[in-house]
Amino acid sequence: MSTNSPDPIVAVLPAGNDFDVAAAEAIVKVLVTAIEDRGQCLIALSGGNTPRGAYRKLADLLTARAVDLDRVHLLFVDERMVPPDDPESNYRMVRSELIARVSPNLHVHRIRGEIEAHEAAGDYETELESLLRGFDGRCDLIVLGVGEDGHTASLFPGTDVVGERERRVGAVFVPRLASWRVTLTLPVLNRARTVLFLVSGERKTAIVGEIFAGDAPREDLPASLVHPESGTVTWMLDAEAASELPSEV
Ligand code: 6PG
Repeated sequence: MSTNSPDPIVAVLPAGNDFDVAAAEAIVKVLVTAIEDRGQCLIALSGGNTPRGAYRKLADLLTARAVDLDRVHLLFVDERMVPPDDPESNYRMVRSELIARVSPNLHVHRIRGEIEAHEAAGDYETELESLLRGFDGRCDLIVLGVGEDGHTASLFPGTDVVGERERRVGAVFVPRLASWRVTLTLPVLNRARTVLFLVSGERKTAIVGEIFAGDAPREDLPASLVHPESGTVTWMLDAEAASELPSEV
């Protein structure tokens, strides 16, 4: 993977508990450091299945370490256009694994999946813009996943939102899923101080190998376009997802 940004850090961990604990520890570390350095923290979390266990561990760590969640703002990387109680809702997943298990002082900014996608994207853009003013325009941490087709967030290959360079939030129709999503865009992802990819399982082996084998970022592999100009990127992989990493990584 070759870009002008620093090389990503790659960490390979045993699947399951070790992976979840390492991911949760990495998130807490960024969060605590941001609070120490700047008095507050802005994080954006992805949905999907991979981070579920990590979010649960994160809730335990935040409580055990008495992190002051009044100083933490939680954003969503993307959302499906469903009500917040729908089993497909990313908000619902993060609420049950994390939000409901920690102090209610945490500031939660959800994407309104229950309304029309463009309207939800416009509302979130407005909310994000005012929030980012208090954070130097940058998220402290964005947690991302990767799909087997190379999508990250809801930046799916072949969709216009992958090329978005102005707006921070986009509405996107994903033909393969026959449904709309709302997603943060590359201008937000690539301004983050820290990006943490969480990827596990043998279904991800081929795409991880392809992303790391490439010489340059590729529009048809949106995850390869995430390279914050002045931030760090860590790929946390389990052994299966990492099994086709090129040997030089
Ligand atoms: C979502 C996402 C998406 C996800 C990947 C990986 O809402 O689904 O934010 O980008 O991170 O599709 O999903 P899994 O972890 O379920 O494989």
